[in-house]
Amino acid sequence: MEKTVRAHTNIALIKYWGKADAKLRLPLMSSLSMTLDQFYTDTRVVKSDQDRFFLNGSEQTGSSKQRVFDYLHVLQKRLGQTGHLRVESTNHVPTAAGLASSSSAFAALAGAFCAYYKLEVSRKELSRLARLGSGSASRSIYGGFAIWQKGTDDASSYAYALDEKPKLDLQLLAVELNQQPKFLSSTGGMSQAPSSPFFQPWLARNQEELAAMTKAIQDNDFSRLGQLAELNANEMHAINLTAAPGFTYFEPATIAAIKLVQKIRASGIECYYTIDAGPNVKILCQLKNVKEITKQFVSEFENAKIVMQSFGPGISYLD
Ligand code: ADP
Ligand code: DP6
Ligand code: CO
Repeated sequence: MEKTVRAHTNIALIKYWGKADAKLRLPLMSSLSMTLDQFYTDTRVVKSDQDRFFLNGSEQTGSSKQRVFDYLHVLQKRLGQTGHLRVESTNHVPTAAGLASSSSAFAALAGAFCAYYKLEVSRKELSRLARLGSGSASRSIYGGFAIWQKGTDDASSYAYALDEKPKLDLQLLAVELNQQPKFLSSTGGMSQAPSSPFFQPWLARNQEELAAMTKAIQDNDFSRLGQLAELNANEMHAINLTAAPGFTYFEPATIAAIKLVQKIRASGIECYYTIDAGPNVKILCQLKNVKEITKQFVSEFENAKIVMQSFGPGISYLD
C-alpha cells in the first residue's frame, strides 16, 4: 500500500545528546519533547526497480541517500522484507539546520515503510523502528508531549505519549537565523560530547531533570517548564564547548538572540529559549506575549524568518 505518511518534528525540552549504542541508537539518557504543528515531513515509499531517494523533488545520490537506504535495509532485514524502493520525501522544515528535520523524517519513513509492506505495528513498535533511523524520531510518532525512555536494550528503548492534547498555553517561536545545513551532524556532535568533563555530571542529573519537567507539565507550570528547558539546553551546549575537541553550534546571531531573550525577560515579558544542534533559536512563551516578542525579534533580526508554533499531532496517513 503506497501511502504518504506525515510526521511532525519535535523539539526536546530535556535533550537526548549521547549514545550508549550507536548502531541501535540506544541513548545514554531519557528525553522529553514537544511535537510542533508547523514543521513536518511527508514521505512516500513506492515500488521501484532500483533504490532511489528524492528529497524536496530532487534526487539525492550522496550521504543522505546512503543514510536512508542503510536504514531501510536494516528494517527489511528485521521485518523479513525485500525489494528495491523509491522514497519520495518533502520537508516542511529546513533540512539539517538544527530544527529537527531528522525527527520528522525518520518517523515518516518508518511509517511509510510499514504502510508499503502492509505491516501492522503498534505505535510503540513504530517508535522503536523510527529510533533506529534517528533517535529523536522515536518521539515524533506522538503529538503533544512525548517521553523517550532510554531503556536498556532495543526492546525497551522507545517513546510514549505523556500528554497528546496539552491544555498548557505553550507557544514556540522558531527563529530561523541560518537555514543552511550545519557543519557537524547531530550524530557527529553527540559522539564527541562524552569527552567533556561535565558530561558524566550532566548524565547523573537526567532522572531529576526529567522528573522536574514532567511535574512542571502536569502542574501546567509554564515558568518552571521554561526555566528547566533553558537550563537543560545550556548544559548541552556547555558540554559541546568543553568536549575534546571542543565545538559549538552557536553563531554570533545565536548569542545575540540569547541576549535578546534575556533582555525581553528582564523587561517583565516572560520567555525562555532552547537550542538544538544548530545555530537557530526556539523561544518558549505564552500566547499573550507572542506579538510583542515577535516584534522585538523582527526589529533586531531583519533577515530572520520567525515561525510561530504550538502543539502538533502524531503521525498520520494521508492517502
Ligand atoms: P536536524 O537538526 O535537521 O535533525 P540531523 O543532523 O539530525 O539534523 O539530521 C539531518 C539529516 O537527516 C540530513 O542530513 C539527512 O541525512 C536526514 N534527513 C533530513 N530530512 C530527511 C528526509 N525528509 N528524508 C530522509 N532523510 C532526511
Ligand atoms: C539536540 O536524533 O538528530 O536535537 O540519533 O544521531 O540521528 P541521531 O540524532 P538526533 O539528535 C537530536 C539531538 C537534539 C536533542 C533532541 O532532539 O533530543
Ligand atoms: Co536530528
